[in-house]
Amino acid sequence: MDKFVVVGGKRLYGSVDISGAKNAALAIIPATLLAAGKCRIDNIPDIRDVRLMFNILRNLGAEIKMLNPNSFEIDTSAIRSQVVPDAMAKKMRASYYFIGALLGRSGNAEVAMPGGCNFGVRPIDQHIKGFEALGAHVRTENAVIKASSAELLGGSIYFDVVSVGATMNVMLAAVRAKGLTIIENAAKEPHIVDLANFLNLMGADVRGAGTDTIKIRGVETMHGCDYSIIPDQIEAGTYMVAAAAAGGDVAIRNVIPKHLESISAKLVECGATVEEFADSVRVAADGRLTKCNVKTMPHPGFPTDMQPQFAALLAICEGTSIVSESIWDNRFRYVEQLLRMGASIQVEGKAAIIEGVPYLKGAPVRADDLRAGAAMIIAGLAARGATEIEDIHLIERGYENILGKLTALGADIRRVEMPDEESAKEDKKAI
Ligand code: EPZ
Repeated sequence: MDKFVVVGGKRLYGSVDISGAKNAALAIIPATLLAAGKCRIDNIPDIRDVRLMFNILRNLGAEIKMLNPNSFEIDTSAIRSQVVPDAMAKKMRASYYFIGALLGRSGNAEVAMPGGCNFGVRPIDQHIKGFEALGAHVRTENAVIKASSAELLGGSIYFDVVSVGATMNVMLAAVRAKGLTIIENAAKEPHIVDLANFLNLMGADVRGAGTDTIKIRGVETMHGCDYSIIPDQIEAGTYMVAAAAAGGDVAIRNVIPKHLESISAKLVECGATVEEFADSVRVAADGRLTKCNVKTMPHPGFPTDMQPQFAALLAICEGTSIVSESIWDNRFRYVEQLLRMGASIQVEGKAAIIEGVPYLKGAPVRADDLRAGAAMIIAGLAARGATEIEDIHLIERGYENILGKLTALGADIRRVEMPDEESAKEDKKAI
């Protein structure tokens, strides 16, 4: 499998353009099933998970035309199947959005259990609870989720836990359910609002997205539309933290600063300079920053998907920081890799106590998952010497052209081709 080799010590300067939001695109692409027609979607990130999504959609019978690497026309008129096979579904967690979308389109869905990053148990009980509240019959047979309903009817759902996936999945089914659906204790992430805006442009009636109560009035028909995905909050945050860790002065462009407020606040607390403009933020840092405590929370709290990256920064900050993970059971696997680089971190349950060290030392490490991999890059940028990062295909699931974007900022990072990169060949074949 290919590796990244990062030689630390280079400060970052210049500007980086942020791509479309992965976690919005992974719900919006299946949502095109809700209308037999054509959608043109721009600002889609050119990443592995999007290519996998397109594979599934094409396998269902959709016509997908690439207008440019970030813009696609998707025609779902010819969709005949409601089955997403195991070989495709197990490659990513977001494949479960095809349950809600197929239920909404045809009242029938057979989707194999999803895969995804492994940081703790990832149940889908809240998704099922939501579908059943709309009158669907849901059962799991041989690790395939089968959902069906003669007629979806609006209902009330109170989620036991705040769940991004369950909120979006139930929205996908509810827009075509007869009557009013009320979703309470809903997730409020920016990508929830983006999905709601897309659905409403297709003719749905979704109100309250971005608050903890979403009301949806079902509609008979929906139609194709043109849409542009919002910028990726987590990609932007990753480059903000990279600039703080490596030092330098970076403009992160094509962002929505409001989505980054919790990250900006923590960087300022650590002593970095953060300036907000209309559609960009500037992050500058010079010398060693100081500790701060971080607790991940549902939006608008500090995002769990920024937790590993921020911990990599705190590993070299002056003082002792505490990072508490409240969303996932086991999202500290990357700490083992930071310890290999000389970090001083103690994990106790869902908290990591990080005693800042003056510097990290380059070492061979691996990407345990998408965001853990980003954390390894950040650690490597700040470390003394070279850091080799394995399993970088996990990083490329969610970061468009991370090598090119970092190199343009002055980072010394290169890709070392290793034999037999089967997964990359398969993905590239898709589009
Ligand atoms: C989405 O995952 C994101 N993935 C994750 O980002 C992100 O970490 C997560 O939301 C939280 O923001 C995508 O959007 C594709 P959840 P999701 O349902 O929807 C529990 C990344 O790096 N839960 O909000 O799977 C669950 O176990 C990825 O881009 C249930 O108990 O997360 C967790 O503890 C990694 N029952 C909590 O809720 C359910 O039915 C939040 O999970 C569903 C979830």
